[in-house]
Amino acid sequence: MIDRAIFVDPAMYAQEQERVFARSWLFVGHASQIPGNGDFFLSRMGEDSVILNRDMDGKIHVFLNSCRHRGMRLCRYDFGNSKYFVCPYHGWGFRASGQLAAVPLRDKGYGDRLDTAAWSLIEVPQLVEYRGTIWGCWDAKGLDFRTAMGAAIAYLDAFLEPPDGGDGEMEVIGGIHKWRMPCNWKWAAENFAGDNYHNVSHASVDQLQISPSQAKGRHTIDVIKDPAYTLNLSEPALGHAARAVLRKGDYPYTPQYPAHPVVEEYFRSAYEERRRRLGERARLNWMGGNLFPNMSFSNGRTSIAVWNPIGPNETEAWRWYLLPKSAPQQVKDVLRSYVMRYAGPGGMTEQDDMENWALAHQSCRSTIARRYPFNYQLGDGKPFDAPGAHLVTGLGVVSEGVSEHNQRALYGRWAELMETPSTEQPRAQHDCNHGQ
Ligand code: FES
Ligand SMILES: [Fe+2]
Repeated sequence: MIDRAIFVDPAMYAQEQERVFARSWLFVGHASQIPGNGDFFLSRMGEDSVILNRDMDGKIHVFLNSCRHRGMRLCRYDFGNSKYFVCPYHGWGFRASGQLAAVPLRDKGYGDRLDTAAWSLIEVPQLVEYRGTIWGCWDAKGLDFRTAMGAAIAYLDAFLEPPDGGDGEMEVIGGIHKWRMPCNWKWAAENFAGDNYHNVSHASVDQLQISPSQAKGRHTIDVIKDPAYTLNLSEPALGHAARAVLRKGDYPYTPQYPAHPVVEEYFRSAYEERRRRLGERARLNWMGGNLFPNMSFSNGRTSIAVWNPIGPNETEAWRWYLLPKSAPQQVKDVLRSYVMRYAGPGGMTEQDDMENWALAHQSCRSTIARRYPFNYQLGDGKPFDAPGAHLVTGLGVVSEGVSEHNQRALYGRWAELMETPSTEQPRAQHDCNHGQ
């Protein structure tokens, strides 16, 4: 059972910013968004505005977007290129590498009292680029990225894997979607973590032919009828979760792009190449998931969403769309138009989800409704041990069928962090550090 207060209580929300967001690894952006020296992309980490940039020596940084003098937002462009960030309030200027380089009235006003080296931009103490994805963590003593991912690093690897199963690069389609939703961020995180139960929500969009397969069903892969297991995978100690389908055998490619011969041929040959590369592991097809706390990913329509908290009752969703860099332009065009039909503020499927989250959220605020807790009992969480189980060994806790196992993993980690004061290490973190 979960009390509805976790979605709306202002005190809990404030505690969540300190105890969950300030010490978790958060997704900030993708390297393909800042390919050149001086490139920057304005991002967020929790409620904080941050600048993701590449300095003039090519080094990647994540800076707090707040001037050291009086806190003004230094950068107000979504993205661009700049050697300097000059504050619009009193004019302090910072290099792309973060050092304070220019101060109006420096000699007359400050004499030798201003130690400019001590007033550089605040930089995130832990920063990692992992296969193009860039992550930051404000807790200098927190787990390193790989330890903090645990078994879920395989979920991220699968997401970043191009269709042929190789190690080719993915790239972000220029510009990202940003929009606000009248609900707490956890609605979206728990939905992406493991909600295979809410299919009924998308009944109308399933009737339409929104996928390139031109058949009923919102996913392109809905035309594949090969026998398969539905799996929930999670790393409960760290709160990460993913959803996947394990086919029961090695089946040939199912055509999915009847109106686009070039695209069909691209995916057919990628499918066969992936089978050659991965062998029977190619039977595992990933659907999506949530990396704790608020980075969700969708494999079928390669997309990342970050659910930025704005307050207990509001979330600013940011959605990135990724494409295989080496794919033919026609493939990129078909995928781009499909993901935009599916997801984002105008996406038909995401609109169904947002309506559920917003109205369920409202019920956590009203006087009588908020007295009654939610039920998270679905699925007994028995370990998956059918034939083929060896293909998911090492991928965390795996159970089969529709369940709320993954949501329980998400809230288990959330509760642990919420119960641990910021001055102490959470238990899982403690154990992990000792195991290193
Ligand atoms: S707030 Fe930036 S220079 Fe004063
Ligand atoms: Fe949905």
